[in-house]
Amino acid sequence: MFVSAHGLAHRFPGTDTLFEHLDFTIEPGHTVAICGPSGCGKSTLLSILAGWERPVEGTVERSGVDRIGWVFQNPYGVPERSALDHVVFPLLAKGERRRDAEPEAMAAMELFDLGYAAGRRFSDLSGGEAQRLMLARAVCSKPDLLLVDEPTAQLDTRTAHSVSHVLGNLAGQGMIVVVATHDPDTRDACERVIDLADYAPAGNQTSATPEREGTR
Ligand SMILES: Nc1ncnc2c1ncn2[C@@H]1O[C@H](COP(=O)(O)OP(=O)(O)O)[C@@H](O)[C@H]1O
Ligand SMILES: [Mg+2]
Repeated sequence: MFVSAHGLAHRFPGTDTLFEHLDFTIEPGHTVAICGPSGCGKSTLLSILAGWERPVEGTVERSGVDRIGWVFQNPYGVPERSALDHVVFPLLAKGERRRDAEPEAMAAMELFDLGYAAGRRFSDLSGGEAQRLMLARAVCSKPDLLLVDEPTAQLDTRTAHSVSHVLGNLAGQGMIVVVATHDPDTRDACERVIDLADYAPAGNQTSATPEREGTR
């Protein structure tokens, strides 16, 4: 199982070329961080890897990847449902019985230090708790390829550190894990780093502005 980029380049109408000559192969076993300042094309690259966005040049090859999981930067959920319900859902959808699904969901929540919040309504979670909940749910749905966009954007430093650590270890469980991040801590927790700054066309360095992350 792998995901490969062959000579990827992308720009949108109205943007400079975001990146070009991007070649890599990612396999399960190590978590890969995609880094670079806000606006450099990290989220776009995740979309291209997922097959949602077509690159202007190059191709993406996915081998053995049937299920793709995505954790968006902005968590969303059903306000009146419990945190546990959110994590159990993908397991029930796969046909597991609730009594088998619940311990599995709880274990995934514990990975992100969320066990204490299992019974809370989604609407009562903090932004950081909701974000960790989305990560727990994604892990429970066991995708072949897990794409995570700015996982620590809404977390305080200490929580960000522990989440980064967990993400760094996730790929050991047989998933391909790709994390888009501008957070040095998250980058350091990943075994492999693709820095999009290395693939920006010469003279294009100022197109990415160091504005606040968190909105896209
Ligand atoms: N659908 C789109 N149409 C036009 N421009 C876009 C679109 N999506 C993103 N962009 C632009 O492309 C650049 C890269 O965006 P993005 O991949 O979200 O960057 P990052 O995730 O690194 O912050 C930004 O300038 C953004 O405004
Ligand atoms: Mg982004």
